[in-house]
Amino acid sequence: MSAPGSHADVIIVGSGAAGLTAALALAQELKVLVLAKGAATGGSTAWAQGGIAAVLDAGDTFEDHIRDTMVAGAGLNRAETVEYVVERAPHAIDRLVDLGVPFNKAFDSSGALHLTREGGHSHRRIVHVDDATGWAVQGALLSAVEANPNITLLPGQACIDLITGRHETRYSGSGRVWGVYALDEATGRVEAHTARATILATGGAGRVYQFSTAPRGATGDGIAMAWRAGARVANMEMMQFHPTCLYNLDVKNLLITEAVRGEGGHLINPRTGKRFMPFYDDRLELAPRDVVARAIDSEIKRFGLDYVHLDISHMPEDFVRSHFPNIHEKLLGLGLDMTREPIPVVPAQHYTCGGIVTDLHGHTDLPGLYAAGECAESGLHGANRLASNSLLECLVFGEAAASDILARWGEFDAPPPVCAWDESRVSNSDEEVVIKQNWTEIRRFMWNYVGIVRSTKRLERAQHRIRMLFDEVEDYYGQFRVTTDLIELRNLLQSADLIVRSALKRHESRGLHYTLDYPETLPEAHDTVLMP
Ligand code: FAD
Ligand code: SIN
Repeated sequence: MSAPGSHADVIIVGSGAAGLTAALALAQELKVLVLAKGAATGGSTAWAQGGIAAVLDAGDTFEDHIRDTMVAGAGLNRAETVEYVVERAPHAIDRLVDLGVPFNKAFDSSGALHLTREGGHSHRRIVHVDDATGWAVQGALLSAVEANPNITLLPGQACIDLITGRHETRYSGSGRVWGVYALDEATGRVEAHTARATILATGGAGRVYQFSTAPRGATGDGIAMAWRAGARVANMEMMQFHPTCLYNLDVKNLLITEAVRGEGGHLINPRTGKRFMPFYDDRLELAPRDVVARAIDSEIKRFGLDYVHLDISHMPEDFVRSHFPNIHEKLLGLGLDMTREPIPVVPAQHYTCGGIVTDLHGHTDLPGLYAAGECAESGLHGANRLASNSLLECLVFGEAAASDILARWGEFDAPPPVCAWDESRVSNSDEEVVIKQNWTEIRRFMWNYVGIVRSTKRLERAQHRIRMLFDEVEDYYGQFRVTTDLIELRNLLQSADLIVRSALKRHESRGLHYTLDYPETLPEAHDTVLMP
């Protein structure tokens, strides 16, 4: 069924750190509708462990944070974005403190926040709430949003596509965005939600890979929606693999925070019993993620291992327990005591560095459409994200997009009448197995052919399969009523295509993109920009 839907001043798709930050800033003056598929806590934000990077230490400087970010990003970062974000980080942390986020305090009596350390950072720079920072941030933002009368938060809404000029009842063909069509997951109805401005804050596309630390809904929906509506996406080949995801045949996506290495954990080859990072990088376990993930991948392949060990059992038991209470408890539940024994770990997909092209205000190419957080390519991360810069990006660009909308509010026209969702030619699916089969197939070949180490031949194999699946999925989509699974499958496939096309375009190895056919890094860094 299709239904008439709703109208708000601004629609935000996504209830993670980026979406809720934008909502709170906008709600000072405007009526905001926040739509999220599944539960309001279903994004990556709630899962974040390590913390948020900000220059707060007396010995630290903005210049150092900027340099570390650019070094990790292998020169592909946009310098103006890096400066913009780094300089706004302390203020972003202050706002969270004001909202009640209980960041850990230093162990002395100074009252200062405790700063932990992660790979690629030249200083202690990460504020955190134990080893479950995201849960605390998500909770504080949600409480503030729920208490705000200008914000309507609707979970259980799976957005399908952006409403553009093509959907105006008097077809205009303009790229102007007027909101979204969303499936109400409880009723099965598709509604048109319109607004003068729309912000995509839909998170990443990590679930395109068989092994990922990301939650189930990270299927690249916002990136795919923006692409289909005509916006450019960039640097989609830059998929970050976190070096240390628990190796466990039952629990497939338990991240072991980088802070374990930051606080002294060693990576050990279980066959030789020796630390192996000294063979790969002078920064040892605290080298940037791409370096550490490739080193682990290489050890696993060279020695025919299933995993390597991450060992912090040489540190005092109390220290380990107090720094990593949640991970310690979760591992104990699986029969593993990290205070006494090493943790088996493997790399897994973790973060989508590329995304919808945006500027310093969160503008996309399409009038009326903004993007913020992991779905956006703001230029902050370049070819590899520095640890804990991502929640920071959400906080800064959620605020930036909101400020721009508030400043330019007078320029935003009211939406014209738009067409209702057309379901006249579809029926209920009689073959759900197609969705499961295709979903599994995409995630397998992306892991095997488009993973940590790539080659042109493997990428072409993946591209061939994507082409075949496109026909099958579009055919299915055209015939049957949408479900969240179908919406996600379509977007997962679109995201896989964007990743593979981008990877094939980059004829060098840089940051997270490492290919056997082009192992050298070219003298100049260029974005991989795809035009719809
Ligand atoms: P998310 O928090 O992912 O939220 C996306 C929202 O969009 C959700 O509400 C989702 O339901 C909604 N959505 C998606 N598609 C649709 C659709 N079609 N219709 C409606 N709604 C939709 N970063 C750090 O900086 N520090 C860390 O310590 C850290 N730890 C991490 C640990 C883990 C396990 C993971 C997976 C990531 C971690 N990251 C960390 C990365 C960071 O958590 C994410 O990049 C960040 O939270 C993304 O926030 P976001 O607001 O962009 O999106
Ligand atoms: C972690 O805690 O290792 C994740 C940090 C991040 O992804 O930034």
